[in-house]
Amino acid sequence: MARETAGRIVVLLGAPGVGKGTQGVRLGRELGWAHVSTGDLLRAALRDGTSLGLEARKYMDAGELVPDGVMIDLVREHLVGLEPGRGVVFDGFPRTVQQAEALDRALAREGRAVGAVALLDAPEAVLFKRISGRRSSPGGRVYNVYFDPPRRDGFCDDTGEPLIHRADDQPETVRTRLAVYQEVTAPLIGHYDAPGLLVRVDAEGDIDQVYAALQAAVAEAHPAADAAPGS
Ligand code: AP5
Repeated sequence: MARETAGRIVVLLGAPGVGKGTQGVRLGRELGWAHVSTGDLLRAALRDGTSLGLEARKYMDAGELVPDGVMIDLVREHLVGLEPGRGVVFDGFPRTVQQAEALDRALAREGRAVGAVALLDAPEAVLFKRISGRRSSPGGRVYNVYFDPPRRDGFCDDTGEPLIHRADDQPETVRTRLAVYQEVTAPLIGHYDAPGLLVRVDAEGDIDQVYAALQAAVAEAHPAADAAPGS
């Protein structure tokens, strides 16, 4: 399966807490694609205490977006390190029209293009419940105390490290993140719907149900995912 689908680009779009990371990790693993989460890249930079991490922290803690220029450079640098032609699942990027246009340009330079954009959708009450139960390992594995608990309460199954509650998961910050999503990121729905790249995925069910719907949507989009720019 990994060989058949090599070279594809899928973007996961959706509000905070809808399950982009949960589904993106699994989709990447099952397809043999890279999973590129800009939230994870920023949190790693924060943990490493890099200048990028320190710059990003003030925006993340406030629930605001990190400036486009910073994000575009970060993703461009990250893409250079990936195996050429490998499929990529983008999670949390692009998040603005400017980021989407920059991604298109970066991919076009390699003769590639976004093949499908999966919009994960769930009601706001579901998002709040999921975020309130989220616990993460320092390495980025995500659990949920209600829906996907670790085997030992409070500790990562893989590493045994204590799980943490993300600093930006406080209700007030979540409200800001949702407002920012509606104002700045939701316009991407039209941006990707116009060329026929958008597929809607009902993300209200349990993790397996959402994954099955996502997988079906991505499979249906395969012909488009083959298209190089201009073809
Ligand atoms: P980022 O980390 O991307 O946060 P987000 O988009 O707000 O998304 P989340 O990580 O909150 O949620 P998710 O959709 O991945 O859900 P998850 O799978 O964890 O970004 C954080 C910050 O970084 C931003 O606010 C911004 O400051 C900055 N940033 C990042 N990218 C940027 C960019 N491109 N430009 C500018 N700034 C950027 O699931 C949530 C919980 O629910 C988990 O506990 C999970 O176990 C559980 N769950 C998932 N699916 C289900 C299900 N179907 N049923 C039950 N539980 C479920």
